[in-house]
Formats: sequence, C-alpha cells, structure tokens
Amino acid sequence: MCTSETFQALDTFEARSDDIVLASYPKCGSNWLLHIVSELIFAVSKIKYNYPEFPVLECGDPEKYQRMKQFSSPRILATHLHYDKLPGSIFENNAKILVLFRNPKDTAVSFFHFHNDVPDIPSYGSWDEFFRQFMKGQVSWGSYFDFAINWNKHIDDANVKFILYEDLKENLTSGVKQIAEFLGFSLTEEQIETISTRSTFQAMRAKSQETHGAVGRFLFRKGEVGDWKNLFRETQSQAMDEKFQECLAGTSLGAKLKY
Ligand code: PPS
Repeated sequence: MCTSETFQALDTFEARSDDIVLASYPKCGSNWLLHIVSELIFAVSKIKYNYPEFPVLECGDPEKYQRMKQFSSPRILATHLHYDKLPGSIFENNAKILVLFRNPKDTAVSFFHFHNDVPDIPSYGSWDEFFRQFMKGQVSWGSYFDFAINWNKHIDDANVKFILYEDLKENLTSGVKQIAEFLGFSLTEEQIETISTRSTFQAMRAKSQETHGAVGRFLFRKGEVGDWKNLFRETQSQAMDEKFQECLAGTSLGAKLKY
C-alpha cells in the first residue's frame, strides 16, 4: 500500500494552510474522525467529501499528489505517519492537525481482527502470534508505542488537537463541538447534534457498504471500548501495562490516554 516511490513523492507534497491533517495509528478510529470532519466541512461549505481510492496520505500511487492539487479546500489529509515523517510543507503552512489516540489494547484487538477478517491482506495464525508481533512493533506502520512517543513531543503544540476515541464514545456531541471549535467552524447546536447522530457507530456501519465498499463491514466491526478483555490473557495485559509504563509514564500523552 505504501511504496518507496510514493514516499519519495510525498516529500514534494505541497500542503495548504487550510489543509486538515488527521493523524492516528491504525485502528484508532481514523475513518470515524474523517467522517466527522467531512460532515463539518459540508455543514460550513456544502463541499461534499468524496471518499478517494486511497484516503491515507502515504498510500497509493506517486501521482496522487499531483491529482490532489485539484482537490477543493479544505482538504482532509489522513495519515498513520509519525510527526517527524510528515511533509515539511504541513508545518511551514501551519496546517491544523487532529491527532487521534485509542487505548493500545483495544487498538491491537481491532488490528488483529482486521487482518484476519479482510480477505486480501495477510492473516495471523492466532491472536497470540499477532500480539507478539504487535508488541515488537512488527506490524503494518510499526509500533503503536513508537508512534505515541513521537507524537507526544508535539501533543501540546498550538496547531495540534488531541482527540481520544474513548472520549468520543463517551460524549460524541461534545467531541464534535470541540473539533468544530478547533477548526474555527461556526455551527449551531442543532447542526452539531445532527452530525453527532450521523456519526454514531450504528449510523456509520449501516452506510459502510456505500461509503467504503466491501471492506466496510470489516472496518466497522464492533466500535466498543474494552473489547480487549475478550482476547487478552492476563500475562498479555500485564506485558502491555509494563510497556505503557516504560514508554509513556510521566508524559503529557500518557496522562491524556484513558488507559
Ligand atoms: S483503519 O483501518 O486503520 O483505517 O481503521 P480505523 O478507522 O482507524 O479504526 C477502525 C476502528 O474504529 C471503529 N469505528 C468506530 N467506533 C465507534 N464509533 C464509530 N462511529 C466508529 N467508526 C469506526 C471501528 O469499528 C474499528 O474498531 P473495532 O474495535 O475493530 O470495531
């Protein structure tokens, strides 16, 4: 999905000041956030977001960055990259960045199911095997913890807004409102409510074939907090607790995550 040619071309990507970057490790809910932001854009500008073939910035063919020059503003740039790997023009243009996190245990479980449910991507022999690879960071896009350590350095930057999957689950309306405020979009309470209703798991899953094609039903799998308890062994839970402590204890990001 991410070729070296595309990575090279990414260095030349020209960001705009009104681009909206959505950064997250895989399976933290990036399609959810993308949907919310696209609904917000539609509410303020009537510009409809068309789901492109490769919505993730670093995926697809190298010519995609040329095609993206034709996209109307504001563009949504979803990415699973570390802060340090983003094209420099994003920072030069001071584009706004929403960074989405999710509890690493639920993230790992979602990742495992995705690999094993979707027919065209490699599957793992067992949960235990996937867990071992996840802990070593030998999964697509590398280690959750490396991603978190890298983003932690910028989590309180002025152009960065931290979003938590668990907070969106707890109070979606409040989350949508905060995102709108950060983006400088002025919406009525009624508009915020309507967008929240359209962004629940049930609403998005019901439309998933339409929005995401055949992969939709695997992408919108369960949408819950705490599903990790159905797969993690006690020893695995402890190992991840230790890794979390080792990597994120005492950090700004570590304090923000609902772990
Ligand atoms: S991917 O493949 O990396 O782009 O996946 P991503 O979209 O980041 O994450 C998929 C998980 O997000 C859940 N999801 C939601 N949860 C709650 N509410 C809404 N609206 C929602 N939309 C997506 C999705 O179900 C995946 O989590 P799991 O635990 O597998 O269900």
